[in-house]
Amino acid sequence: MIYLNGQFMPLDQACVSVLDRGFIFGDGVYEVIPVYSRRPFRVVEHLHRLQHSLDGIRLKNPHTNNEWRQLIAQLIEQNPGEDQSVYLHITRGVAKRDHAFPDVPPTVFIMSSPLLPPSAELLENGVKAVTANDNRWVRCDIKSISLLPNVLLRQLATDAEASETILIRDGYLTEGSASNIFVVKNQVLLAPPKSHLMLPGITYDVTLELAASNSIIHEVREIAEDELFGAEEIMLTSSTREIMAITHLNGKAVGSGNPGPKFRQLHQLYQQYKATHMRGNPSAQ
Ligand code: PDD
Repeated sequence: MIYLNGQFMPLDQACVSVLDRGFIFGDGVYEVIPVYSRRPFRVVEHLHRLQHSLDGIRLKNPHTNNEWRQLIAQLIEQNPGEDQSVYLHITRGVAKRDHAFPDVPPTVFIMSSPLLPPSAELLENGVKAVTANDNRWVRCDIKSISLLPNVLLRQLATDAEASETILIRDGYLTEGSASNIFVVKNQVLLAPPKSHLMLPGITYDVTLELAASNSIIHEVREIAEDELFGAEEIMLTSSTREIMAITHLNGKAVGSGNPGPKFRQLHQLYQQYKATHMRGNPSAQ
């Protein structure tokens, strides 16, 4: 079941006009919210980021946070699976093709897919990544549905039989094509600072909070390209992939070529944190 413009319906009955500005211009924003044991994870933070994205494209939020929460809860209810990935998508609506903003209602679409945690094999071995020049626009803090640059960059990884493309802009690490990136250097966990050049990841925030509350030495600062290439560990974070170790970069082993101790510790802490969320800890809702 999906939700489209005020109605719940089966996915195969959902239709959107070919004049939708999402289809014509990629004029819209989205969110991906993980759901564990039927409870949306960090929903307040996701809705806050959605507001930031809507403000960034000058589109009025069609719903209050309470309305969003109710729609999300109803959609979770109508879909199978304890763990789901809820996708919210808002476009500037349907109008005759003209670049100027139209005065029409937005299109609101929500769907849910089963959320599968990374397999034991991936956790044991880590994943491969490649690097590329970050040639996206300079408002990467907006979660825009115009993902063509991200898709093209991600395909470089797929072509190299890797899982992610790590992006470098002007000699510094920004993020992955669909994830945030952490590096371990001299046993310190490093994260690039939030800016308009990266998406402020919700999993990134959780990871830094877990580091802070468990005395894992960490620093939020610019990470130069050579620090990435000489890293002891590299990891990615995202709502759908949680925390994963990157064990090969551009065909070379990262550190020992196996998931490192910081990854193992953070992964375990993340699983514990998820478990408290599933038991209903309000701070994790
Ligand atoms: N992507 N950076 C980019 C470019 C992303 O697309 C994502 C997530 C992240 C991680 O953000 P978060 O931890 O809030 O999921 C960082 C989602 C999952 C997607 O597009 O499917």
